[in-house]
Amino acid sequence: MHYSAADIVLKNKENMITDIILWIKDTHPLRTDSIFAANKCKRDLGTVTNAFINGLKFNNKENIQFLVEEFYRNNTLQLQSTNVEVASYTMLKDKIIDLCGTETIQAINHIKYLYNELITQLVNGPVYTEMNVEKASFIAERCQRNWDYNNPVSIADVNSIVQSAVSMPSKQNRQYYKLIVSTNTDFNRLCYTLAIDRTDPKFGFGKDINYAYHRNGQVLAPMLMLYTPADESGIDDPFNDGFNKNFYTSIGISSGVAAHSAAMLGYKTGFCACSVWRELYTALNEQYNIPIPEWNYGLMLGIGNPMWEYSRQAVLIDDFVYDTDDSYDKIVDINFVH
Ligand SMILES: Cc1cc2nc3c(=O)[nH]c(=O)nc-3n(C[C@H](O)[C@H](O)[C@H](O)COP(=O)(O)O)c2cc1C
Repeated sequence: MHYSAADIVLKNKENMITDIILWIKDTHPLRTDSIFAANKCKRDLGTVTNAFINGLKFNNKENIQFLVEEFYRNNTLQLQSTNVEVASYTMLKDKIIDLCGTETIQAINHIKYLYNELITQLVNGPVYTEMNVEKASFIAERCQRNWDYNNPVSIADVNSIVQSAVSMPSKQNRQYYKLIVSTNTDFNRLCYTLAIDRTDPKFGFGKDINYAYHRNGQVLAPMLMLYTPADESGIDDPFNDGFNKNFYTSIGISSGVAAHSAAMLGYKTGFCACSVWRELYTALNEQYNIPIPEWNYGLMLGIGNPMWEYSRQAVLIDDFVYDTDDSYDKIVDINFVH
């Protein structure tokens, strides 16, 4: 575990990326000629830097491996060429090694190892690895926004995912949530249609809704898990633990495991907390006879196989592609105490 080296890379991440972007602008202006292209460069560099940080912290290459397999989504290199990437990532590696001058030889060797794996597989194609705990976590961290309806989740896998999810612990093992699991296309489309925010102009409110650019396509999945609040009155709570807090904690634990289990089984997942909950619960009551929960909140998790030709961010609805918002690459602040 090379924590201090990881920390150095994290602290210098923004500066290193700024330097490299300036170099790209100078030497390959076409690569950064639009805001979109410049942002993509910056984002890719951030993702690669994070993979070095994670590789150092956890002493493995799992994040680099995941990244390089993503570069080859659909067995096709997603870049026009690799020359600028190779040069940029070489600069990045050199800067990291410079900054880590006083770190152990093992840390420096690990940086070189990560770099070699990245460059060799980027240029020659990935040496695909089996699914594992780390790879599944990188998949679950992201949001799949388009789905292959010809390749749904098998019944056996639906059962495995749901069983793992509902067996997760809750405070005193009380039941704070109810779960609806749907592989019914009409049901899922109803949930998708109401996975909106009526105050958010990105959905087109105040404008023409047909031309708005945000849609929660993750909800229109072949399999949908909908977490709804259980009846508070049915919960025996002598310690006055509080319903809301325990509802959210319980569904967080359960849905996180559902997403990770689904990824372990080879699927992609996407969360959505955005819905007009009252309208949704009313519609589900009217159309599917599902009792309306007392509280108007919940969480949805879409699961299925992706359309491999599209990036995970492309929201593909009835053959129309919507753009989505940018998201971030997080590095959680962990303090290991051994
Ligand atoms: C609890 C929770 C709620 C979420 N709600 C939404 C949502 O309402 N709309 C949305 O577009 N994404 C939602 N997401 C997806 C996250 O934004 C996504 O995981 C994050 O952006 C990183 O993935 P990405 O890089 O693929 O975007 C939610 C994620 C979680 C964990």
